[in-house]
Amino acid sequence: MKIKITLFFFLTFFFLFLSCETTRTSLSKEQEKEYLKKGQTLALQTFGVLGGQLQKALKEGGVEHAIGYCNTAAYPLVDSLSKANHANIKRTSLQLRNPKNKANASELNILKTYEAQVKSGVALQPIVQQEGASIAFYAPIKLNALCLQCHGKIGAELREENLLTIQEYYPDDKATGYGDGDLRGIWSIRFPVE
Ligand code: HEC
Repeated sequence: MKIKITLFFFLTFFFLFLSCETTRTSLSKEQEKEYLKKGQTLALQTFGVLGGQLQKALKEGGVEHAIGYCNTAAYPLVDSLSKANHANIKRTSLQLRNPKNKANASELNILKTYEAQVKSGVALQPIVQQEGASIAFYAPIKLNALCLQCHGKIGAELREENLLTIQEYYPDDKATGYGDGDLRGIWSIRFPVE
């Protein structure tokens, strides 16, 4: 009798444990791979479009003109790429320029994880995970020398007069003081589960 009861409890806990595991890791390895690829492609495509337009604007009218261009064009560009790809593409950061890009709870988690990894010298990897009715893809956004004209150290790569223009559009701007290769933020791309 005692053995039966022990066995009953053992099995109950065993199955409870199993069911917990399956809800937590409900993405199959194939799905994970598929969404990793989808996310990376879309992040690269969006980065290409934004970067191309940015360079064009810089060439046409310098940093000041490009700041105004980013202000009106960045958000709608990302939005239309989202619609065209049936996904929700977002860029976010711990130091925001546009408050509309504010991180939600899981994005905040990822941002802090990446930041801790940077501090301990771990290479940053993209992340795919199921979140409710969607699959989320996250990847780091790093800065290069070009970016520093608008996100770099004030009075150095980021000139004072350009900072003033930035502050006209974004009075609460926190996205300055970065160096080449620094982690600026993340891509957060959400796909509806099919
Ligand atoms: C000409 C100035 C300029 C340059 C150069 C520039 N940015 Fe920005 N960046 C901006 C502006 C303006 C915004 C706010 C856009 C908006 O209103 O959506 C922004 C927003 C962002 C955001 C969104 C998060 C937030 O804080 O709102 C990220 C991420 C970002 N930039 C990364 C980069 C990277 C990476 C580069 C280099 C490849 C770069 N930027 C180069 C001006 C610039």
